[in-house]
Amino acid sequence: MDKILVRGGRPLSGSVKISGSKNSALPILAATLLTKEPCVISRVPDLSDIHYMLTILSQLGCEVERASGTVTIKAEKIVTEAPYEIVRKMRASVCVLGPLLGREKEATVSLPGGCIIGDRPIDLHLRGFEALGAAVLVHAGNVKVLAPELRGTTISLRGKFGSTVLGTDNVMMAAVLAEGTTVIDGAAEEPEVVDLANFLIAMGAKIEGAGTRRILIEGVKELHGAEHEVIPDRIEAGTFLAAAAICGEGVTLHRVHPADLKAVTDPLIQAGFVIESNGNQMTLRPGATRKPLKIDAYPYPGFPPDMQAQMCALLATTDGISVVTDNVFPQRFMHVAELKRMGANIELQGQTAVIHGVERLSGAPVMASDLRASAALVLAGLQAEGTTEINRVYHIDRGYESIDEKLNMLGADIERVKV
Ligand code: EPZ
Repeated sequence: MDKILVRGGRPLSGSVKISGSKNSALPILAATLLTKEPCVISRVPDLSDIHYMLTILSQLGCEVERASGTVTIKAEKIVTEAPYEIVRKMRASVCVLGPLLGREKEATVSLPGGCIIGDRPIDLHLRGFEALGAAVLVHAGNVKVLAPELRGTTISLRGKFGSTVLGTDNVMMAAVLAEGTTVIDGAAEEPEVVDLANFLIAMGAKIEGAGTRRILIEGVKELHGAEHEVIPDRIEAGTFLAAAAICGEGVTLHRVHPADLKAVTDPLIQAGFVIESNGNQMTLRPGATRKPLKIDAYPYPGFPPDMQAQMCALLATTDGISVVTDNVFPQRFMHVAELKRMGANIELQGQTAVIHGVERLSGAPVMASDLRASAALVLAGLQAEGTTEINRVYHIDRGYESIDEKLNMLGADIERVKV
């Protein structure tokens, strides 16, 4: 198991290329199950979560070929039960349910277990499948969905915390081959949902309204193979913007979609940073002052909950009182205790972190608990005095492609050591 050593205090400058989006690639790879014909997906990031998805697809019978960032998948003959051993490693495996149900009218996947970032049920996914006419059976840790036929209808996917991203993806993938028209109300509006819809449309699906709260899907008889390039990872891009804000002297991101990042760049500009965008590149420079912020994480187009930990690391050394609330995963504050070990002054009040900015953090051994918390600890290490030792970095490899190498190219001093 690796750990990462971050020697802090070095300014960042230069440019970095942003990888393809993990949260877009995962459902798009699952969607290839909807056709027997080959699909070619490019800009697929090299991450352990992607590796898990490709393993699940192979175990479902797909032919999978990978050449650097391009993956070719042919799901000619498939089975409909995804093995527990792999599914338990990654919650997002649940998004093979929709395409398998859509194509084969049945699917069995192990029910996702507990998650460190909070309670993450799939009741909305199952509600959508039932509305399309499927029977849902939960037994022995597995969920089985079964339907002689699927029939289009109107489905509300609005939950206690708003819309559901993978729930919208799953129901959309089941509905593209259903009889008649499906309307998803309260749909997630994330750019990753739009990217999946664009891939499905390239396969011959009839979808309107992706990116809005109301998606309309007219079922078709079958889908064909297609080629697709995955959109840039806006959370990786947001993480590098936060790094540039923490200790940058001008950092340029290449291969980004600035429009997808507005909910992150707006507060950074409000805090005093200077951000210039030009086509698919974006540069962040320090401003004259750095101001505290009040951030409320919500589903898109709100501030992304996958960026709240990284902003806590930035605001930990921003003079004044900042307030960060997570309205999607109220318990997602595992990073706070570790930041406090580095000298941050943060008070947790329910789903809100009240951050009193301190002069400086100091390096310490810390424990990564989940993907975005581990990114926040790397950002904290960049600005801390001395060395920060981050343990359990397998979390970071789930969602960041070579983050240590990319940061070192910007001037950081990060070392990965085998334990
Ligand atoms: C996606 O997870 C992302 N994962 C998450 O990113 C991200 O944090 C999340 O969306 C929110 O933006 C992928 O795309 C692979 P949700 P998802 O269903 O779809 C509740 C990362 O760091 N809910 O939109 O699983 C749920 O508990 C990961 O890359 C129900 O109550 O999230 C949560 O509070 C972490 N019932 C809220 O809705 C349901 O059936 C939003 O969850 C489904 C969800």
